[in-house]
Amino acid sequence: MKAQAPRGTQDILPAEQPYWDLVRQTAAEVARQYGFQRIDTPMFENTRVFERGVGQGTDIVEKEMYTFEDKGGDSITLRAEGTAPVVRAYIEHGMHKLPQPVKLYYICPIFRFERPQKGRYRQHHQFGVEALGEMDPALDAEVIELLWTLYARLGLQGLSLQINSIGDGKCRPRYLEELRSYYRAHLDEVCDDDRVRFQKNPLRLLDCKVPSCQAIANRAPHSADFLCDECAAHFAGLRRSLDLRGLKAEVNFRLVRGLDYYTRTVFEIWPAHGGAQSTIGGGGRYDGLAEELGGPPTPGIGFGTGIERIILNYKEAHPEGLPPPAADVFMVAAGDGARDRATELSVGLRQSGIAVAGAYGERSFGAQMKAAGGSGARFALILGQDELASGQASLKDLANGEQVLVPMDRLVPELQARLAVRAP
Ligand code: HAM
Repeated sequence: MKAQAPRGTQDILPAEQPYWDLVRQTAAEVARQYGFQRIDTPMFENTRVFERGVGQGTDIVEKEMYTFEDKGGDSITLRAEGTAPVVRAYIEHGMHKLPQPVKLYYICPIFRFERPQKGRYRQHHQFGVEALGEMDPALDAEVIELLWTLYARLGLQGLSLQINSIGDGKCRPRYLEELRSYYRAHLDEVCDDDRVRFQKNPLRLLDCKVPSCQAIANRAPHSADFLCDECAAHFAGLRRSLDLRGLKAEVNFRLVRGLDYYTRTVFEIWPAHGGAQSTIGGGGRYDGLAEELGGPPTPGIGFGTGIERIILNYKEAHPEGLPPPAADVFMVAAGDGARDRATELSVGLRQSGIAVAGAYGERSFGAQMKAAGGSGARFALILGQDELASGQASLKDLANGEQVLVPMDRLVPELQARLAVRAP
């Protein structure tokens, strides 16, 4: 048997890790700047959290969940999205008693049984934020600004921001009636999936990807034309607040999103090529979700963005790539006693926050210098017999070949200054 990772999953090898570190660190930093605090929820939930939260008629709940019965007979589902678990935790821990809004973020794996393709996996990872307990459309705009800032800081290019409002429990029924009566006249022209959507989830008719359904969807009535006064004012407030932040949004009346909990604001950020099918990030408002999960009425707004997709776009914008991680200093020890001294020195260097590498086994000076050159380290620290006798070490800058002698007891400050590393 040749063991392989399961279909739709991938190993993140060391050469890829710098991209992951960069995205995770930038995401955490941007979240901090907008006042979001980290939350981690379990890798799995009771199945009903997703069934109730995401909705029975959605692709996620109908076809994509990794659900199993555990040995205690409970139905368990691997985290299929991030929002319902965070809202579940908000309710469970009485966070409605905290000052509102409660602003949370997460970085975690998500599991969906999807057809694997470029940028689509069965285990992917999301950076997501959820802000709970506030209706103000300025918060919707702030959440969108946060996501946009993350992408801008990573240098992603050619992105477009798509927004829409799908109303709430008060005004959406009238819109859905209108949408149904429009589609009723076209049922013999649309695809089979659309005929099912017509019955079960008419809003999703609008994001059908089948080419022959496009013209029909393009002429469908717009949800934004059927908003009640409160939802219309909210949508106007969102657009005004986006304007104030210098964010250009395209109102896209076909944007509806694939999860049932959304109310009012929905948004996505698309890359230059690929449109909706390669969405980098998306989200919206979910003012009824907390009640659906048994909590007090609590408005909420958030997004999720796929880290794999961010990295795909990052690599397109930065074809030069990121260097693999490397040590700061490579120890080169030649002759009697040098290796022991190098071992002692490396302990102190590491305690001072310096990353140290070196050769193993007996190697010639030449072989060690070659290994130092290939290691990616900034410096070689050379301990030969002359150096040992004089209590000094040679520090060679491997980028420009410059070499200086440094007294051993000055090595730490000298290296710290040259590397500009802070002492731990
Ligand atoms: P979602 O649109 O299902 O929303 O996923 C958010 C993002 O996760 C997508 O835009 C995409 O970048 C990434 N993604 C989704 N599925 C895959 C996949 N199979 N492979 C790779 N990347 C994928 C949600 O999950 C909502 N919880 C977002 C949200 C948060 N809404 C409000 N708050």
